[in-house]
Amino acid sequence: MKSKIVLLGPPGSGKGTQGEKLSEEMGYVRLSTGDMLREAVRNGTELGMKAKGYMDSGALVPNDLIIDLMKEKISTLEPGTGVIFDGFPRTVEQADALGEQIEIDLALNLDVADCELVERLTKRRSCPECHCVFHLTHNKPRQEGVCDKCGSLLYQRDDDCDETVCNRLEVYRKNTLPLIDYYERKGILVTVEGTGKMDEIFAKVKEAVR
Ligand code: AP5
Repeated sequence: MKSKIVLLGPPGSGKGTQGEKLSEEMGYVRLSTGDMLREAVRNGTELGMKAKGYMDSGALVPNDLIIDLMKEKISTLEPGTGVIFDGFPRTVEQADALGEQIEIDLALNLDVADCELVERLTKRRSCPECHCVFHLTHNKPRQEGVCDKCGSLLYQRDDDCDETVCNRLEVYRKNTLPLIDYYERKGILVTVEGTGKMDEIFAKVKEAVR
């Protein structure tokens, strides 16, 4: 089984959804920079205050802040822990920094068309506590507005509005798309078609991980 996995794919491609399933079923630790940053914003930490403006506009938070944050997280992992990096790296500079700390053995790229991404993101509802995600059509919570897993009230992320979603897709194409070639050259890239039923996608994801 692959031990150190990077999840790649545009905003809304299902990195969080599939990463969470892998974590629950196969015991990986999932490190999501987006979740960490949103928590920092909510708690009003120095990092959160610095990151908020970038996140609200759909821009990337500067590399130095993200790389420091992830170095600290990685240093707390027990040796041999299976890890999924969700939303990190997002630039070649971040990928180089990650590669200096840890040997990645799989870069799993979820491929989804832009028109579907916009629909997924603008109808997403997120849990502020356990970070579970739902969708108003494809993945409804059992009780409207309430997280199935922990019972917290769901919210719509500030960056899930039409305008910011378009900017995030632009930012992805410019900064993060080059990582597909980056990991392909290392011989560890696997692309999975990310459209269709979540469980069917998960079956393909598990196959790639084994
Ligand atoms: P982040 O939180 O990482 O956002 P993202 O990459 O834009 O990804 P998302 O969380 O939006 O989507 P996802 O792929 O996880 O999809 P999900 O599973 O939720 O980053 C947010 C911001 O933080 C960035 O813009 C940036 O400012 C900053 N940031 C974070 N990391 C950074 C870094 N490394 N460097 C610099 N800045 C950084 O699914 C989406 C929706 O679709 C859900 O509603 C879900 O239920 C639904 N869905 C999932 N699968 C399916 C399916 N198969 N069919 C139908 N619906 C589906």
